[in-house]
Amino acid sequence: MTAPATMTEPGTIGLRDVGVSFHTDRGVVTALDGVTASLPASGFTSLLGPSGCGKSTLLRVIADLLDPSTGGVDVLGATPHQRRLGRDIGFVFQDAALLPWRTAVENVRLPLEVGGGVPQGRQANSPEDLLALVGLAGREHAYPHELSGGMRQRVAIARALICQPRVLLMDEPFGALDEITRDRLNVELLRIWQETGTTVVFVTHSIPEAVFLSQQVVVMSAHPGRIREIVDIDLPYPRGSETRDLPQFSALASRLRHLLEQS
Ligand SMILES: Nc1ncnc2c1ncn2[C@@H]1O[C@H](COP(=O)(O)OP(=O)(O)O)[C@@H](O)[C@H]1O
Ligand SMILES: [Mg+2]
Repeated sequence: MTAPATMTEPGTIGLRDVGVSFHTDRGVVTALDGVTASLPASGFTSLLGPSGCGKSTLLRVIADLLDPSTGGVDVLGATPHQRRLGRDIGFVFQDAALLPWRTAVENVRLPLEVGGGVPQGRQANSPEDLLALVGLAGREHAYPHELSGGMRQRVAIARALICQPRVLLMDEPFGALDEITRDRLNVELLRIWQETGTTVVFVTHSIPEAVFLSQQVVVMSAHPGRIREIVDIDLPYPRGSETRDLPQFSALASRLRHLLEQS
C-alpha cells in the first residue's frame, strides 16, 4: 500500500515523506519522520499506535492545523489549506467540546455561524437531519449536560458533518467512553460512513476498534513517529457484533498486536 515518496495517486490523501519536528526548551522532538502513504478516497483508514507516536500530529497536518517541517500532503487533489478553506474537512476530538449553553441542534449549527459559513455553491446539511443520522432524533433541544458521553460524541460527529465535508478526521473520538457504548458507536459510525461516502481517518490506540472499523490500519511506532506497516483489513461490510467472532478478526488483531510490540 505504501506509495513511492515522490508521487501519490490522485483521489487519495497523499502523504509524501512527511516530517514534523517541534523545537522545545529540551531540544528538538521529532514527532513524525518519513511518513509516506496513500489513504484512499471514501475509505476508512485508522492510525494505530502507542501514545506519542504522532497520530494527532498527523491528523493536524492533514487538517491544515499544522505545517509539516518536511514533505508534503495533498487531500483529494488539493492542498490541506485549500481543503480547510473549502470547509471540506470535519474534525472530531476525544472531548466533544460542545458549548454548554447551546442545545444539541444549536451546537450542530455552530460551524455555519463562524469561520465564514458554507462556501458559495455548497449546500449545508440540515442540523435536524444530521441529528437523526447520528441517532439523536427527538433530542435536538437537549443541552449537553442532559446528554450522556456517547450522545455528546454523536452531537460532535453531527457538527463535524454539517458542511458536508469530504474528509472526516477523528482523533480518539470514543476513547473516553465505556466499552459497550464504544462498540455501539463503532457500528453507528460505519453506517454513517457508508451513508455519507466521506473519507474517514480515525485515530485510536485500541486494536479491536481499529480492526472492527477499518479497511486499512496504518500501524505506527514512536520516537520518532513512523509508519511501521499498513495492514489491509479484509473483513466484509456491513460489520456487526458477529464480525468480532470471526476467526479472521482475532487473527488480524493478533497481527496488529505483534506489530505494535515490535515498535
Ligand atoms: N506542540 C508540541 N510541542 C512540542 N512537542 C509536541 C507538540 N505536539 C506534540 N508533541 C510531541 O510530538 C510527539 C507526538 O505527539 P502526538 O502527535 O500528540 O502523539 P499521539 O497522538 O500519537 O499520542 C510526542 O512526543 C509529543 O510530546
Ligand atoms: Mg493523540
